[in-house]
Amino acid sequence: MNRREILSTLGATALAVSISGETTMADDNKTIAIIGTGRMGGAFGKLFAGAGYKVIYGSRNPGEEKVQAVVKSTPNGAAMSPKDAAAKAAIIVLATPWNATEAAIKGMGDLAGKLILDPTNAISFGKDGPSMSVDTSGGELVRDWAKGASVVKAFNTVGYFVIAEPKVLGDKVGVFLAGDDAAAKEKVMAMVNSLGFEATDVGPMKNARVLEGMSMLYMTPFMSGKSDQRFEWAVRRSGGVKLGTVRPAG
Ligand SMILES: NC(=O)c1ccc[n+]([C@@H]2O[C@H](COP(=O)([O-])OP(=O)(O)OC[C@H]3O[C@@H](n4cnc5c(N)ncnc54)[C@H](OP(=O)(O)O)[C@@H]3O)[C@@H](O)[C@H]2O)c1
Repeated sequence: MNRREILSTLGATALAVSISGETTMADDNKTIAIIGTGRMGGAFGKLFAGAGYKVIYGSRNPGEEKVQAVVKSTPNGAAMSPKDAAAKAAIIVLATPWNATEAAIKGMGDLAGKLILDPTNAISFGKDGPSMSVDTSGGELVRDWAKGASVVKAFNTVGYFVIAEPKVLGDKVGVFLAGDDAAAKEKVMAMVNSLGFEATDVGPMKNARVLEGMSMLYMTPFMSGKSDQRFEWAVRRSGGVKLGTVRPAG
């Protein structure tokens, strides 16, 4: 079974198998591992549990009171180590701080055949506000660290409170998808749209550089203390609109 076939099983109730053909996940495609139980982790838990997924949190301290509080607020939720959570799910969401993400990925062991959603932002905060902390993007690094998995950058420009409640604004909020695996992106696009967002494929993982820059713009109202001016990204589509007469280039 090749990676495309594996990903196609994510859309049906089927076993997920590794690239080598060995069964690595006993649970069906509606099981999702969320690594990290902070703001994004909790919000994704609410989102996915509300959509009928079984949510398994991967936590450094699954028995801790605050982690258990998140589990209790998640219908049918559970928490265990990130490695155990990842082994039980076909889909993994990385909800870890950027500086903990490499260790979190490497600590999960064999990720072959998994679909990883990466909402992280490789950003650091200095006295001038946020800036990129890598030369490329977090998305490209995550793709390279998560060997054998299909990584799709998604949700990195969306605030956790919108992820927890996508309809909070009435209109659909945009979710941009970048990645190098077309089949994985198609799968994530269908999933994101079914969760109540409007997904847009913005091309290869290299474009995560732009998406992570957009997350810095997104933070501006929060960083400047003008949170009444906060905004969400959404797309106004122009495909299909007849273009007016324009002056030729040159
Ligand atoms: N907050 C947003 O609205 C937002 C929006 C878009 C993107 N993002 C991105 O999403 C990611 C998560 O953001 P967040 O706001 O959810 O962060 P957060 O509230 O700080 O939560 C991060 C979670 O990651 C886990 N973790 C694993 N290793 C860790 C370590 N070494 N130090 C601290 N926590 C560690 C912790 O869960 P356990 O204790 O259970 O292990 C922690 O609760 C970040 O990369 C951020 O850039 C955030």
